[in-house]
Amino acid sequence: MKPHQINIPAKIYFGRDIWEESIKDIEALLSGNVMIVTTGRSLTRLGYLERLKEQLSQCALTKMVTVFDKVSANPRLSEVREGIELAKESSTDVVVGFGGGSAIDMAKAVAAGAGAYGNIDEYFYNGKEPVDNVLPIIAIPTTAGTGSELSKAAIITDDVRKIKSGIRGVKLYPKAAIVDSVFTESVPFHITMETGFDVFAHAMESYLSKAASPFTQMQSEHAARIVGEMLPRLVLDMQDIEARKYMSYASMIMGINLGNASTGLPHRLQYPLGAATDTSHGKGLAALYTAWVHYEYLYSEQKTEKLMRILMGKDIRGREECTSAMHAFITSLKLPTSLRDFNIKEEQMDDMARAVSGSLFNDPAAQEPDIIRKIYRKAWEG
Ligand SMILES: [Fe+2]
Repeated sequence: MKPHQINIPAKIYFGRDIWEESIKDIEALLSGNVMIVTTGRSLTRLGYLERLKEQLSQCALTKMVTVFDKVSANPRLSEVREGIELAKESSTDVVVGFGGGSAIDMAKAVAAGAGAYGNIDEYFYNGKEPVDNVLPIIAIPTTAGTGSELSKAAIITDDVRKIKSGIRGVKLYPKAAIVDSVFTESVPFHITMETGFDVFAHAMESYLSKAASPFTQMQSEHAARIVGEMLPRLVLDMQDIEARKYMSYASMIMGINLGNASTGLPHRLQYPLGAATDTSHGKGLAALYTAWVHYEYLYSEQKTEKLMRILMGKDIRGREECTSAMHAFITSLKLPTSLRDFNIKEEQMDDMARAVSGSLFNDPAAQEPDIIRKIYRKAWEG
């Protein structure tokens, strides 16, 4: 067994209907002026935002609560700048991300940029790690998917230059993550499936990653089993509370894997696709996945077969069976299996290939010559 580290820096609360009690428990972290960063609309409509504001206002050390709700599905750098401005104006001391992965990523980026000496351009364009005075972050996810509540990354899009990239660093780990599946119960079908597929993507990519450890691999197997069983249950019945709970759990444990084993080629390739087409993370991953499995199999035959077997709950052998099982699973979730569904032109794929950034070499298939173009092309052909 090779040496490895395991980082789980946040205090984690998990369950159904536990968020109010959990906030009371972390009162000491909510000291001073608190800014809620949220995706707004449905959480406002359901009364959750008002209840959260109320709950925070009752914390002994909290002075003022402000709300920033300008967060797109793919959080934009221009919105990050607005959030930082508001955080500075309101002398924010703590940032609470309340929403899907986009709200939590936005909370992280604002917390990094609003702290003393924060410089968002340096973090976003030059890959500088935020180290000084990042404001404390509390994450309350309302979807089951991104795992952002336990990761050290914020994925942001420069909407002018069409660059989607990550701000990363240990200071971006939330101090506490409150994972309450009650919020996910009103998430619509397509977002449930897109975020649910993202959970599987985190499981599979971190499983095959060269940075995987026995601990992260055990968690990947567990998460893949949950997704394989629970996501099809949600296809049949969106009110299946037990399935919602398990999906939140799988998402959470894959958040731990993100920080400890990272992701692979599909995540790197989805970012340019998302930036070029303004489509969601999970939808883009779904369209890339079968093509990736086709190449990945050549470099991780046994592990690919094992995880596909766990996902599908039956014996899967060989390259052809792995790719067709992947295709069938994605289709069953009513997600796209081809880049043609994104209305992109063939020539755009070259631009996307050039825009791929971040480290590729955790992924065993990265050694395949010209792998990025090969995956885009195969995913386009469907
Ligand atoms: Fe992801």
